[in-house]
Amino acid sequence: MRVVVHGLTKEFMTGQGKTVALAGVDLEVRDREFFGIIGPTGCGKTTLLHIMAGLEKATQGGVEFVGEKRTQSLVSMVFQDAALMPWRTVEENVPLGPEFRKEQRSMMKRVSQYFLEMVRLFDFSGSHPHELSGGMKQKVAIARALANDPEVILMDEPFANLDAQTRLLLREELLRIWERDKKTVILVTHNLEESVMLCGMRDPDFGRCMEKIWELLRYDVDKAMRESRPSQTTEQQKIGRGKQSFTWWA
Ligand SMILES: Nc1ncnc2c1ncn2[C@@H]1O[C@H](COP(=O)(O)OP(=O)(O)OP(=O)(O)O)[C@@H](O)[C@H]1O
Ligand SMILES: [Mg+2]
Repeated sequence: MRVVVHGLTKEFMTGQGKTVALAGVDLEVRDREFFGIIGPTGCGKTTLLHIMAGLEKATQGGVEFVGEKRTQSLVSMVFQDAALMPWRTVEENVPLGPEFRKEQRSMMKRVSQYFLEMVRLFDFSGSHPHELSGGMKQKVAIARALANDPEVILMDEPFANLDAQTRLLLREELLRIWERDKKTVILVTHNLEESVMLCGMRDPDFGRCMEKIWELLRYDVDKAMRESRPSQTTEQQKIGRGKQSFTWWA
């Protein structure tokens, strides 16, 4: 499924006045692409994902999902803090999509087992979220997103709260799952290295690649950091290669 964002503008009215979170964003994510979005805090990344997920309405412009629907649902979202239901076991947290679709219990159990196996958490099926580490919770959230059988998975800094080693492990797992399932994935991250690793820049000369990208981004990052309202600037750059790419805007 292709995701086309055209002229997307989002304004929030607050007690302090109007905040322009997004101003005329255009981008296109190809079918089954692993697409990364990086940008400084406040530039509108979460707002963009929320609009894509239908959790928020655009002020102008919109998001289109183009292509044949091959799966049961359009989008799933993985939030930064996993957002699991604490009173449910791991096994019961996973098949939320099938539950909304009112599928049979036996089917929900099978779906749950399948995806917990995939993220290597089957042995923790009966645990509750508070009994899991941060990385394990994120894996449950990823299993839940996959169990919804979506065309597009939206991920909002899913590894932000994890330690460096767990991040590395989860990145690898995510790539393994993506390479197997080939869904369209849109990943928001603060982390340049993470974008480079996940979004198609897995060059043998990783260091040189990072340096080159940083050279391209440096001016925009510096500018955004110095501006009090980074969300009001609209300049966009896209750097991509093959089926994976990442976008920066500041
Ligand atoms: N519900 C809201 N009401 C008012 N303003 C909002 C709301 N949600 C977001 N904003 C504003 O919109 C802008 C973009 O916010 P958003 O959360 O999308 O940024 P972000 O790029 O995800 O930042 P971060 O990297 O810190 O998560 C910010 O200036 C923020 O204050
Ligand atoms: Mg955010």
